[in-house]
Amino acid sequence: MFERIFTPNSEAEKPAPIHPRKGVIIGAGQVGMACAYSILIQDCFDQLILQDIAKERVEGEVMDLLHGMPFMSPTELKAGTIAEEGQDADIVVITAGAAQKPGESRLNLVERNITIFKNLLSDVVKYCPNAILLIVSNPVDIMTYVTLKITGFPSSRVIGSGTVLDTARFRSLLAKKMGIDPRSVHAYIIGEHGDSEVAVWSTANIAGMKLIEGKWENLPSTEREELTALFEDVRNAAYEIIKLKGCTSYAIGLAVTDIIKAILRSQQRILTVSSLIDGLYGIDDVCLGLPTVLNEKGIFKIVNLTLSEMEKEQLQHSAQVLREIFAQLKL
Ligand code: LAC
Repeated sequence: MFERIFTPNSEAEKPAPIHPRKGVIIGAGQVGMACAYSILIQDCFDQLILQDIAKERVEGEVMDLLHGMPFMSPTELKAGTIAEEGQDADIVVITAGAAQKPGESRLNLVERNITIFKNLLSDVVKYCPNAILLIVSNPVDIMTYVTLKITGFPSSRVIGSGTVLDTARFRSLLAKKMGIDPRSVHAYIIGEHGDSEVAVWSTANIAGMKLIEGKWENLPSTEREELTALFEDVRNAAYEIIKLKGCTSYAIGLAVTDIIKAILRSQQRILTVSSLIDGLYGIDDVCLGLPTVLNEKGIFKIVNLTLSEMEKEQLQHSAQVLREIFAQLKL
């Protein structure tokens, strides 16, 4: 029908088949769609499949996004399933699951989400056996561990969004207090993405200048109170946002996109993703967030971050909280 528009080059060669960078997002709710939107405008994949049990809604989401394609670099975007359009994806992002209710802790979601995961992971294993799995569903550290156990995938290819968003919140609030760009604040939140997370004050710095001189315990009490209040704003951010708008979405979508870019572009980027810890800080057989080098194979190596005695104890407590929850689960 449109042949009249083009004059083909007589010596044109057929383009060699390239391996298209393919992603699947399972769960097209507020978080899944924030991930999809951020992934599309940051041009991560050549093909992106959105899967959700609400078939009509995901069709509508795809139609809406497709009409915006002229404003973005092209991505082949479809509604579909792992078993059909999503086969052999490079990265499978899982946001599916029950959403946190106002005032509900992430750990309270776990039983509901394990049932959902058991159903969806069988197709992931069957149709995307070589994919890197990026778990976002909460409680993300538990769901990352559950995914590891159910799929049997190598731990390098089962990654949780971890405390990447918490670290971003920490950097943002510190930057706001000091009137500088958050990208110039270097500070980590580690451990559970949740109530037992840990602020690593001992190595927090700006241009190499430590925020805390000496031990936390020796700081003036007024300074400790001010910094503790800032950390609590970080730790409670999701509760506050859920109370105001019903969910969190945009920032986690941007955090997930950062993780995906680190993998697809093999950036050797350090992000506090959640992964299986095997002996570091005396912690093993649990998934939690630590500064981790990411590349095209997924988890490359974990940074042996120097922690104060207090921070090490807090991290071990965080690991214990997660281990106790997991011990109660019926997988
Ligand atoms: C939050 C969700 C992603 O912290 O747990 O916003």
